[in-house]
Amino acid sequence: MKLNLPEAFPTAVHILDHLEPELLPAGPWVLVGDATIRATWEAAAMPVPAGSCWVQVGEPTKRLETIIPWLETWAALPLSREARIVAVGGGVVTDMAGLAASLFLRGVPWQAWPTTLLSQVDAALGGKTAVNLTAGKNLAGAFHPPECMVICTAFLATLPLRQVNSGRWELIKMAFLEGDVTWAEHLLDTPTPAPRDLARALEIKAELVHRDLKEAGDRKLLNLGHTLGHALEAASEFRLSHGEAVGLGLFAACCLAEAQGLPPFPSALIHKLAAALRPLAAEVAPWEDCLPWLERDKKMGTDPKGLQAAVHCVLPQPGNRAELRFLPPAAWGDAHAKLTSLF
Ligand SMILES: NC(=O)c1ccc[n+]([C@@H]2O[C@H](COP(=O)([O-])OP(=O)(O)OC[C@H]3O[C@@H](n4cnc5c(N)ncnc54)[C@H](O)[C@@H]3O)[C@@H](O)[C@H]2O)c1
Repeated sequence: MKLNLPEAFPTAVHILDHLEPELLPAGPWVLVGDATIRATWEAAAMPVPAGSCWVQVGEPTKRLETIIPWLETWAALPLSREARIVAVGGGVVTDMAGLAASLFLRGVPWQAWPTTLLSQVDAALGGKTAVNLTAGKNLAGAFHPPECMVICTAFLATLPLRQVNSGRWELIKMAFLEGDVTWAEHLLDTPTPAPRDLARALEIKAELVHRDLKEAGDRKLLNLGHTLGHALEAASEFRLSHGEAVGLGLFAACCLAEAQGLPPFPSALIHKLAAALRPLAAEVAPWEDCLPWLERDKKMGTDPKGLQAAVHCVLPQPGNRAELRFLPPAAWGDAHAKLTSLF
């Protein structure tokens, strides 16, 4: 499927329904693959060059220490600056292998072959690569866009339902970001998103990222649902998945947008959104537990006049793209109350 990407966008994006070796680099390359999908890769007779590694990684091992042996292996081969790194896995693997590619020989090109819905629709596109530090998630990283992103929907056949749903929330977020009521309803009704939905979400992300790689302005719109979402995720001690927390944060953002005077979404859509979120009720932490997380959020700063502490709030509205506003963290209190009144 051909995507409509901005001119000179650094990443070529392909969406396929089966694995194809033709899209792999023509010259030397090594693979960093998530051990979970090794069987799928090998069953399709996809190549695995010398120096490749299959890794078992997760948030606790998404750390600099994990990638140092990869760099040592590549240097010992040796891998030249013309070589490519091919990352095959979820967002943890694409974030880490992308960062390793940015460090090796001061930067070699890389390809992303994302294998979870969340990484296909979000993490692998846009050039953000990172590892975690003790002080927080994704605090050491680089902007290093992949030269090619290959989305193979066949990977999703083995993905657990909870993981699929986590990715779906990032996709649903995109429909609200665009203010597209029909698309949002369609996505809420569709358990497994179609390739055209992925393509549309990626086109929107590519447009925002291309204008603002380093998140100085419009790229912040992609944080819709994330401001309260991150606080809910952390306050639940990560029992909520990232996507689930974004879904809850999205509902709260709709409430805050209305309270801030933006036009409301149709009540039928809001009811559908609420119904999809209801199974998460038990994990929604009380407001007093969320506020401290909001106050220490990466998006925290002062408002543009420098008068008071503020967080970036992305406020969705029907029929138009969402708006970015800077509001005190306490502004989310009423939206949080509306969220809990759902359950
Ligand atoms: N760079 C960005 O812009 C960006 C954006 C969003 C999220 N992220 C990052 O992405 C990470 C989350 O990504 P994720 O949700 O893909 O998590 P993940 O990479 O941890 O994958 C989730 C689980 O699914 C398994 N898995 C992967 N592919 C599979 C498949 N096809 N079948 C069965 N199991 C499979 C993995 O082994 C893992 O256990 C976070 O670290 C987050 O910080 C980055």
